[in-house]
Amino acid sequence: MASAASRTSLLRTRIMDFITSTATLPLLLGCVGVFSLCKLLQWLRTRAYVRNAVVVITGATSGLGRECARVFHAAGAKLVLCGRNAEALEELTRELAASRATEVQTHKPYTVTFDLTDPGAIVGAAAEILQCFGYVDVLINNAGISYRGTIVDTSLDVDKRVMETNYFGPVALTKALLPSMIRRRQGHVVAISSIQGKISVPFRSAYAASKHATQAFFDCLRAEVEQHDIEVTVVSPGYIHTNLSLNAVTADGSKYGVMDKTTAQGRSPSQVARDVLAAVGKKKKDVVLADVAPSLAVYLRTLAPRLFFSLMASRARKEQKPKHC
Ligand SMILES: NC(=O)c1ccc[n+]([C@@H]2O[C@H](COP(=O)([O-])OP(=O)(O)OC[C@H]3O[C@@H](n4cnc5c(N)ncnc54)[C@H](OP(=O)(O)O)[C@@H]3O)[C@@H](O)[C@H]2O)c1
Repeated sequence: MASAASRTSLLRTRIMDFITSTATLPLLLGCVGVFSLCKLLQWLRTRAYVRNAVVVITGATSGLGRECARVFHAAGAKLVLCGRNAEALEELTRELAASRATEVQTHKPYTVTFDLTDPGAIVGAAAEILQCFGYVDVLINNAGISYRGTIVDTSLDVDKRVMETNYFGPVALTKALLPSMIRRRQGHVVAISSIQGKISVPFRSAYAASKHATQAFFDCLRAEVEQHDIEVTVVSPGYIHTNLSLNAVTADGSKYGVMDKTTAQGRSPSQVARDVLAAVGKKKKDVVLADVAPSLAVYLRTLAPRLFFSLMASRARKEQKPKHC
């Protein structure tokens, strides 16, 4: 017993000797210093990239979009806040204008009201934004709706509505703003997808399909516009604590209206918004913002698809309930 204690004490002494030896301590301090300096430089570069930039955010009235508005506003961006609810947009604008922001100069946001399921309104909104600002630096396609239901019970109208909101809407808005970005040889398009754009979970068919389509479209876009110096970032979060499940649509088109436990336990939208800002600043191409289990599931889907499919089938059997599946 005594010899074990003395061995432990000897080991501890040796470790301390090693750390405080003339070579190791300066090396450790140097590494910490270089790491901190890199972080600081990255932070400064992100701030410079976003400061005074015209940043369009869809779905700014709620959840992640609202938090992105706060974070990009505080970083000095000229915001264009988009949503369906003009009153909610005005309320957010007042809140941002009143916020005692950071050391950077902030700008009063501009608001544009339109529905992403209305292609004509999207074209009109893009024209209004370009007329007002002349260009867009960063477009954040954030707005979206989720879905809960079994495929067999879901009307095709519901599938279409989810696709129109989550896929065709962002595609139409991107297409409307892209020519001006190409002419300027400058711009950054962000798609807020989901981990369900990489893996499909039972009873989320329309949502997962819309996010898979989003991932595919913006991956193609990235390749096509790189030659024009335009950046494309696809962000795939796991669960975020927002109203997404409350606002989700069900098989018959009605509102789901339930705060799912998984959503309630999700990441804070402000943390995810800060991660979105960092991803934009670093010009990241593809970012997964999820916990270990969903991140591993993405690899499982690729490396061991049979295992992944049987896990999903077992999950479907467990979760299968007539109404709240
Ligand atoms: N929450 C999560 O767990 C999670 C996880 C991964 C990815 N995401 C993605 O994150 C994005 C933001 O969602 P959220 O979690 O912040 O949900 P949310 O709180 O429900 O916010 C959704 C936003 O999208 C807007 N929107 C919905 N349908 C629209 C339409 N037809 N036209 C225009 N705007 C519309 C909503 O506007 P209204 O206020 O007018 O309804 C709202 O501002 C979505 O793309 C979602 O798929 C969320």
